[in-house]
Amino acid sequence: MESNHKSLPINGTDYVEFYVGNAKQAAHFYQSAFGFQPLAYAGLETGLKDRTSYVLKQDKIVFVLTAALTPGSPVAEHHKLHGDGIKVIALAVDDARETFETTTAKGARPYKEPYTISDDKGEVVLSGIHTYGDTVHMFVERKNYKGVFMPGFTKWEPDYKPEETGLLYVDHIVGNVGWNEMDVIAGFYKDVFGFKQLISFDDKDISTEYTALKSKVMANDNMWIKFPINEPAKGKKKSQVEEYLDFYGGPGPQHVAVATNDIVKTISALRDRGVDFLHVPDTYYDTVTQRVGEIDEDLEVLKKHRILIDRDDEGYLLQLFTKPVEDRPTFFFEIIQRKGAKSFGKGNFQALFESIELEQANRGTL
Ligand code: FE2
Repeated sequence: MESNHKSLPINGTDYVEFYVGNAKQAAHFYQSAFGFQPLAYAGLETGLKDRTSYVLKQDKIVFVLTAALTPGSPVAEHHKLHGDGIKVIALAVDDARETFETTTAKGARPYKEPYTISDDKGEVVLSGIHTYGDTVHMFVERKNYKGVFMPGFTKWEPDYKPEETGLLYVDHIVGNVGWNEMDVIAGFYKDVFGFKQLISFDDKDISTEYTALKSKVMANDNMWIKFPINEPAKGKKKSQVEEYLDFYGGPGPQHVAVATNDIVKTISALRDRGVDFLHVPDTYYDTVTQRVGEIDEDLEVLKKHRILIDRDDEGYLLQLFTKPVEDRPTFFFEIIQRKGAKSFGKGNFQALFESIELEQANRGTL
């Protein structure tokens, strides 16, 4: 509990909305592969004309999958430019009007003026501002709402309900921005949101022989919201951030890290259901113990599931990254289990970069 709130009061990630080519099929993927549970639906049947949305939930994580129904829809425009990707990172707030006033007064570009939507379950107040690229933040005030998601949505209750995979909450969301834009966007989160910079990495920390990137991690006071911001750095070959920018058509969310309390069980379930992860070589496990020391888990089990380990001053963490989950080599997921560590796996960057470079070489984009 923060006594003197200096950063913008945010109660967590409310939802993450993806604009996709086919929301019905994407919803099936998040159900079958990741174990998200059906929650709500909006579309023609609920009076929408230009779009349809499926809402899925797993513990505290809420994903909204939205697709266009008409070529003139702004969703269609976004999808044409970016492919499947995140449009909205929605933040839960106590007062969506005040949050809009505060952030726009500090220079944020308005996306949605505050408005109220209501039904027989109560009301939700919403407002929104722009962040990097075409990505936006919606501020969601839902203290006076008792329905499943939001007015305008109906309960979605299909018979098909695969089990959850142990995903609990959004740990952090990383944005990729263009050359020399990292400081601008990090400055935006500092000035507009009052976020503090937790860590910064430069090309000396995050580089291989061929590729490099720079990163700054911005976070709010209670650390519930963590936004690392990456930009490409010069290397002999094209960095993964550049590849992202090329295929996404500009800045956008690179990955969402979702937390689990049992990463072995979660990764094992995700692999069984067809989720593809980055390749981790056998040799990673030859030297990892020297780097991270004693851990609770059996190293052979972690090796079997190709789970990565890193340590900082406060503890250690276990993590693994999926391959991109759409056709373009853009957005992916990280699965993370924190055991004291508050950092982001810097010790794994080398191994990860080599693995990503292998993938880029296969795509002809290195
Ligand atoms: Fe991450």
